[in-house]
This record gives sequence, C-alpha cells and structure tokens, in this order.
Amino acid sequence: MKIYNVCVIGATGTVGQMFVKLLENHPWFKLTRLFASRDSAFQTYQSAMQNKWRQTTPIPAEFAQIEVEVIDKNFVKGDLNIVFSALDSSVAEDIEPYLAALGLAVFSNAAAYRNHQHVPIIIPEINPHHFEAIRSQEFDPSNKGFIVTNPNCTLQAAALPLFPLLKLGAIDKVIVTSMQALSGAGYPGVPSLDIIGNVIPYIAQNEESKIADELHKIFGVFDKKTKVFDDYGFSVSASCNRVPVLNGHTLSVNFSICNDTPIELFEIDIIDLWENFTPDLGLPSAQKPVIYMKESNRPQPLLDQMAGNGMTVSIGNLRRCNVLDWKFTSLLNNTVRGAAGGSMLNAELWVQKFDQ
Ligand SMILES: NC(=O)c1ccc[n+]([C@@H]2O[C@H](COP(=O)([O-])OP(=O)(O)OC[C@H]3O[C@@H](n4cnc5c(N)ncnc54)[C@H](OP(=O)(O)O)[C@@H]3O)[C@@H](O)[C@H]2O)c1
Repeated sequence: MKIYNVCVIGATGTVGQMFVKLLENHPWFKLTRLFASRDSAFQTYQSAMQNKWRQTTPIPAEFAQIEVEVIDKNFVKGDLNIVFSALDSSVAEDIEPYLAALGLAVFSNAAAYRNHQHVPIIIPEINPHHFEAIRSQEFDPSNKGFIVTNPNCTLQAAALPLFPLLKLGAIDKVIVTSMQALSGAGYPGVPSLDIIGNVIPYIAQNEESKIADELHKIFGVFDKKTKVFDDYGFSVSASCNRVPVLNGHTLSVNFSICNDTPIELFEIDIIDLWENFTPDLGLPSAQKPVIYMKESNRPQPLLDQMAGNGMTVSIGNLRRCNVLDWKFTSLLNNTVRGAAGGSMLNAELWVQKFDQ
C-alpha cells in the first residue's frame, strides 16, 4: 500500500488535535506538516499546544517537534497528497478551494462547502457512491484536487441509526432533539459562567437547518447524468441545545416510516436491523457503525462516548412514540466519529476505492 503524506490545517483546535492523536501510527497516512493561524505558527507543535492540548494521552512524540506553519495562500504543496481541514468555516471557505486547486485531496470538517452542488457529504457506510460528485468539481483544472466533507457533528447520531431502517420502508418524518457537548464549540468554547448548571437552547445560526439539509443530501442520490444531488424527501425538524457535558452529543430521535403494505412492527425487528448493520469496509478506522444498548438508562456520554474507539454510535431506549411511530436515544463522539475520525474514514475510503 502506498503511503500518503498528509497535513492538518487548523491543527491547534479541538478537531485538529484529534486528527494529530488519531494519525499516530496510521498504516496508510504519514502526518508531515501542521498548520494554524499566525498566533500559533513559527514554533513547535508542542510549544503551540501548551495549555491547549486537551487529550488524556500526551502529544505523539513523532509530531511534537513539527514546526507549525501559517495556513494562507503562500502554501507550498511539496510532497503532500491529502489535507485534513479542521478550520473555522469562514477561513475554510477561502483556503480549501485554493488547496484543491493545487491538486490536493481535501477532507474537510468545515460547513463552508457542504451545500456546494458538487461537494459530497460522505458517511462511508451510507453514501460512498457520492464520491462520484468530485469528478464534476471545478476547483482544480487538472481534475486531481477536490473537496469532500463530513457532516455536521451531530448528524451521524441520526443518520447511522436511521439508514438500516430504510429496509422497512421509506422514512417519512424525523424529529431530532440534540443535547450537544461543550467540545463541539471548539476551544476555549462556551464561557463556564454561561454553561455550568445550565442548558442553552441555541448552538449557532443555521445549526438546526443544517441537520435537515445534510440528511436530505446524504440520503439522496447523485445523478451521474445531470450531475446534481437528488435529495431524499422526508420531513425533518431539529432542535439543538448546548448542555454542560464535555464530549459526546446525545440525540432524542422520533421517526415514522411510510410503507405501502403496512406490516406490524415490533421493537425486535428494528433492533435486529441495527445489530445486523455490519458493512465490511475493511478500512483501518472502521468499526461497527452502531450498537444497541439494552440497559434502559443508556447510552450516556460519560460511559459510552468511546464505543468502537469513538467511531460507533450507541443507540438505546427504543420505544413506541404516540406522535410519530418510534423514538430512541443515540450518542455520538462528536470529536472522533463526528469530526476527525469521520474525515479519516472518508480519506481511507477514497484511497481504497477511488484513488487506484
Ligand atoms: N468541535 C467539534 O466537535 C466539531 C465537530 C465537527 C465539525 N467541526 C468543525 O470543525 C472545524 C474546527 O472546529 P474546532 O472545534 O476544532 O474549532 P477550534 O477549536 O476553534 O479550532 C479552530 C482552528 O482553526 C485555526 N484558525 C482559526 N482562525 C484562523 C485563521 N484566520 N487562519 C488560520 N487558522 C485559523 C485555529 O488556529 P489557532 O489555534 O492558531 O487560532 C485552530 O487551529 C469547524 O469548522 C467546526 O465547525 C467541529
């Protein structure tokens, strides 16, 4: 297997440092360069991360002495193949197309291009065929560079449990209520006096509409002829809340299924679909995408955020709903599966299936 030289842009933030942690000993990716703002550049990563490294394990020794570079349009591609972007959206908007134009494969966590007509939002277990869209991108005249995104940090906690249920019929309506952790706001994030002992019923502008828009795009198809995404047409209503939890986004999800020939459904039918949802991706970061927890007080962020090394969505408490058909609780590690780990899985999929 060819080794790919990779860099992280936005390497000093919450998601950036998760990339650095996950790239230690990666069998296909060699992390060679790290980028951030001018405030963090011109010093070693170790020094830039003093008081900012929030992981429970030390900075991997092989990366600690890398000198942090400024990410701007003086960027020199060198022997890089892949860029992992953990930049704020406003910065990503300007720089990611520039990097794609240099022929680089850009895997982004930022929202800036998720709505672009030819930029896919990939979850490998759900819509790997959306990689087809990168052929229509026009960032790089030589057609080598591209941008691929992963979804908003809460979304996979709804998308991965709902996807296997499509075998039961079309999903008709979904209501999502999120309880989002502090790490989702980046570092240093929400002031402690605003959040300790509190719940804030607001995350950011468009956070709720992003959940609907991105679910529609991910569950839809990319039409190779017309080169547009044909969205999946179900109703989604999202309510997003910030809660005083360090890491791990919890969702309450209610849904109804529309079936031409209604059959009586039992809890075990749905749980069986989750237990048998075991796509064999054969990728280094892949884990079982969902697990169902039988204890009625699970999942909980404190106990379950590291399921499958942070790559598995934990589901629990499936029960009938008096308004829609069913409801359940799910939990996603927002910095791993919801951010850096999700992006790495996308890059691994591209390497294995599309860059041969
Ligand atoms: N946190 C999550 O759970 C999560 C999940 C999914 C997606 N995301 C998305 O991932 C991205 C990063 O989020 P985060 O939580 O890691 O944010 P963060 O902790 O605030 O980190 C932001 C990073 O961007 C760099 N940066 C900021 N302004 C810059 C500029 N003008 N020029 C160059 N670099 C600049 C920062 O460098 P300095 O340290 O030098 O300022 C830092 O490395 C965002 O787009 C976010 O929406 C986050």
